Amino acid sequence: MSHEPTASQRVSRKDEHLELAMRLHGQDRAGAFDDVAFVHHSLPGVSAGQVDIGTTVLGSRWEVPFYINAMTGGTRATARINADLAEAAADAGVAIACGSQHVALRDPERADGFRVIRRRAPGAFVLGNVGPTVSPQEAVQAVEMLEANALQIHLNAAQELVMPEGDRDFTGWSEAISAIVAAVPVPVVVKEVGFGLSRRTIEALVRAGVAAVDVAGSGGTDFIAIENERRARRDLSYLIGWGQPTALCLLESLAGPKPVGLPVLASGGVRNPLDVVRSLALGACAVGASGHVLRTLVKEGPEALRRELHTWSDHVRTLMTLLGAADVPQLRRTDVLVTGRTAEQARLLGVDLERLAHRSEPSPPTISPVKGD
Ligand code: FNR
Repeated sequence: MSHEPTASQRVSRKDEHLELAMRLHGQDRAGAFDDVAFVHHSLPGVSAGQVDIGTTVLGSRWEVPFYINAMTGGTRATARINADLAEAAADAGVAIACGSQHVALRDPERADGFRVIRRRAPGAFVLGNVGPTVSPQEAVQAVEMLEANALQIHLNAAQELVMPEGDRDFTGWSEAISAIVAAVPVPVVVKEVGFGLSRRTIEALVRAGVAAVDVAGSGGTDFIAIENERRARRDLSYLIGWGQPTALCLLESLAGPKPVGLPVLASGGVRNPLDVVRSLALGACAVGASGHVLRTLVKEGPEALRRELHTWSDHVRTLMTLLGAADVPQLRRTDVLVTGRTAEQARLLGVDLERLAHRSEPSPPTISPVKGD
C-alpha cells in the first residue's frame, strides 16, 4: 500500500502542524538544558563592548550565533508566517531556514510561499529544506527556489511512523543523501526534527559527505505528540518524549571520546539566550530555535518577534561577558557542570564530565602536596 499523501493532504497538514505545534509546545518546561550549568568565576576579565557574538558556519560569518530553524511554507497562512519570520530575521541579522519544500516541488504554484523568504530577507543566510526522499534534481530546484545558501535535509523517521499517512520504508536514505550532496551547488546540513542525532548517525552522515549536521534534539517541539493528535485513536502517546535531548547529543558528539569531525549545529528545546550559550559552550557552532520563535510571532506579533531576536543578541553578549568569553571559541573553554539525568546518560555514552568541569584550567588539576607533608 502506498502511503504517498495527496497534494491536499500535504497542504492541510502544514496548517495542522502549525496549530498543534503552538498548542502542544511544552512552554519553558524543564529539560536537559537545565542539567547544564556554568561554574561562575568572579573575575571575567572582558568588556561587553569587546565581545564578538558572531560565528562561522559553513565558511560564512554569521553576526548572530542563533537562527530561525525550519518550519513551514506552502499555504496562504504559512506564507504569511514565512514573510514575517523573514522580515524579523533580516532585521536582526539572523539566518533562517524554511520548512519542507516538498509541497512546492510537487505543485509549483505553491513555491511563492517559500520564495517570499528570499524577497523579504534578500541578504540573509537562507537554508532550503527537503527530505531524503527527493531526487537530486528536485533538491537542486529547492535550492534555486530560494537562492538558498545551504540546503537542510531532514531525517524524520519517528514522525513518519506516527503519521497515519507517513512513510514506512526507510531504506536507501544514506545513498540518497550522498546523491543530493553531489548534485547541489551549496553545502548540505542534515538535521533531525526533534529526536536528536546520535554520534553513530553523524558518523554515517560524514561518510555520506554532508558539510554539517544539526542535532535537533528532543525537549521542545515533539512531532510524536503532534502526529499522535492527528491519529484517530491517539494511541501512540506513550512514545512522547522519544529521542535524545539536544544537550546530550552535543555531549555525545563533541565531548565524548571520539568527537565527530564536522561542524555541529544545535536545535531542539532552545527556550532562551542561556540555552543558546549552553549549546555554544558544548561545542555547537550555531543554535536554532523553531517553537519559541513561532509562539512569539503567533501570540505576540511580528514586532514582538523582532524585539525578541534583538533581546536574545543582547543577552547572549551579556552572558558571554559574565563567562569571560570574548568570542564563541572561548565559550568552549568555560567550566561546565552537567548533572542529573543528562549526566547519567552522558557517562553511559563515554563522556568525561569531570574534564568538562575543569576546562578553563591551564593544565589538568593535580593534587598539590600540602605544606609540611
Ligand atoms: C518544524 N520542524 C521542521 N523541520 C524540518 O526540517 N522541516 C520541516 O518542514 C519542519 N516543520 C516544522 C513545523 C513546525 C510548526 C515546527 C514547530 C517545527 C522542526 C524544527 O525545525 C526543529 O527541528 C524542531 O521543531 C525542534 O526545535 P524547537 O521547536 O524545539 O525549537
